[in-house]
Amino acid sequence: METTAHIGVLTVSDRASRGEYEDLGGPAIRDYLSEVFASPWSLIYQVVPDDRPLIALEMRRMSDELNCCLIITTGGTGPAVRDVTPEATTDVCEKMMPGFGELMRKVSLDKVPTAILSRQTAGIRAKCLIVNLPGQPKAIKECLDAVMPAIPYCIDLIGGPRLETHEHRLKAFRPKAK
Ligand code: MTE
Repeated sequence: METTAHIGVLTVSDRASRGEYEDLGGPAIRDYLSEVFASPWSLIYQVVPDDRPLIALEMRRMSDELNCCLIITTGGTGPAVRDVTPEATTDVCEKMMPGFGELMRKVSLDKVPTAILSRQTAGIRAKCLIVNLPGQPKAIKECLDAVMPAIPYCIDLIGGPRLETHEHRLKAFRPKAK
């Protein structure tokens, strides 16, 4: 029996949450996931303001109530006063996965010198991996192409559903069983 993977996409932006501009990041993540995943998955999408408790609340809802195995956030990772997405991620995670942020900053630095301004991180809450992306829509593909090969195996390790990818687009790396 195939299990549908529930994936949360969380846009963090004061202005998008007030409807002052259209959210481009959330739909870009959705399109990326549709292109890459071959196994069944369903989208849970939400836009929240740059408010630490509200971001954390939505992350808990997506992971605990809606059974998301993966939450991808966009926005709120920079140095501005209202940028608190990494703090909210830390609030809800039992385990941090700093390699995600390290790799995304490394690859992003080839594109923009301001990549070091992103404090993006990742972590595990129960059976859910939470990954932060910067708010720039063009950062989404740059960052996800770097970390996505390791995400299906990470979700295997935390007891989530098996995610398969279209190999011509992106090959998931799973170390051979010992
Ligand atoms: N990473 C990539 N790949 N591409 C980008 O354009 N923009 C940077 C950085 N990381 C960028 C990037 C900039 S200008 C900022 S301020 C930080 O991400 C934080 O962005 P955020 O606050 O919208 O999350």
